[in-house]
Amino acid sequence: MEKRDLLYEGKAKRVYTTDDKDIVMVSYKDDATAFNGIKKGTIHDKGKVNNEVSNKVMMYLEENAIPTHLVKQINERETLVKKVEIIPLEVIVRNKVAGSLAKKLGLEEGTILKRPILEFCYKKDELGDPFINVDHILAAELATEEEIEIIQKMARKINELLVGYFKNINIDLIDFKIEFGRTPDGQVILADEISPDTCRYWDATTGEKLDKDRFRRDMGNVEEAYLEVYNRIFA
Ligand code: C5P
Repeated sequence: MEKRDLLYEGKAKRVYTTDDKDIVMVSYKDDATAFNGIKKGTIHDKGKVNNEVSNKVMMYLEENAIPTHLVKQINERETLVKKVEIIPLEVIVRNKVAGSLAKKLGLEEGTILKRPILEFCYKKDELGDPFINVDHILAAELATEEEIEIIQKMARKINELLVGYFKNINIDLIDFKIEFGRTPDGQVILADEISPDTCRYWDATTGEKLDKDRFRRDMGNVEEAYLEVYNRIFA
């Protein structure tokens, strides 16, 4: 498959067209941003870790009946994925309190939630990705009722699968963000990435943070944390 024109450049990835109109190539960068682009930096080899970690996790989800955009990894940083229309929602699933939820509920980070929480944010940089509910999604026609049901069901199933997957490598999956896309025939599939950029991973024994919070909060050992996740997955 041939890589052609740059279609889109995001904060962490570039997307290129290919000679197949239904397939695009994603190229992962080392650039890191936080707080809606206010904090900028680079994390050495992040692109490689996120590409390979995300693909491995997506393959596991596919094996467990979750449809994803993954087609084929090309090299360390590049992967072919199905071209989809991204549904402009950040779907967040939480198992323990952390980040913005700690502020919202006034609870300690690490507090166990009685049941997982599913949240929606409107994926719109200019607005700072605001928190929205199902009524907002329907009223603004961001997705249909049927699509929302599919997304909610899939997000909860993905959470169950990922909690088990990461438990096996001694990682506590605190929360994560996923995105979905529509294929040309209208199927809703998992898109974007699942990586240390988009999840909170805490070492299940020590509680050490192994994710982007190390960058957001200037905790140091950022590269080491990303590599640790990579090494545990590929051990
Ligand atoms: O910041 P907050 O606590 O709401 O983040 C919840 C989860 O969603 C975290 O795992 C974070 O990494 C992820 N997230 C993301 N992209 C955003 C916002 C949050 O991947 N734009």
